[in-house]
Amino acid sequence: MNAVLVLNGPNLNRLGTREPGIYGASTFADLVSACESAAASHGMLADVRQTNDEAELIGWLHEAADSSTPVILNPAAFTHYSYAVRDACAMLTAPLIEVHISNPAAREEFRHNSVIAGVATGTIAGFGLTGYVLAFQALAQT
Ligand code: DQA
Repeated sequence: MNAVLVLNGPNLNRLGTREPGIYGASTFADLVSACESAAASHGMLADVRQTNDEAELIGWLHEAADSSTPVILNPAAFTHYSYAVRDACAMLTAPLIEVHISNPAAREEFRHNSVIAGVATGTIAGFGLTGYVLAFQALAQT
């Protein structure tokens, strides 16, 4: 079974109550089950994690680099300023799909730049939790 790491950055544990007008009513538990069923439909296994801690996220990326595991990453606010997360992503040896629930390009100016996008295989944004499902589809065809 091909394992995929689905890594989620700060505040994504608050889905469901966090700015529902932007992120919708789905919870982090819904995100986990969407990923698990999308993975299963492609014969993959999803290991879904969330952290509010940059160092922990970087540790997980090192783990993915060492094991050549594909990564679906929603870096959350780290997207816009964390060169440390970007540098960890640059070390990955399997595909990296950047996912955003909202469409950052249609939001505040500071969200328009992703420091991760340049080292990602591709980016999916603006489709809610469906973005994660699409990311598994993309991985299955990569
Ligand atoms: C986000 C978009 C980011 O700008 C924001 O900081 C997040 C979530 C998204 O999934 O839409 O925390 O990555």
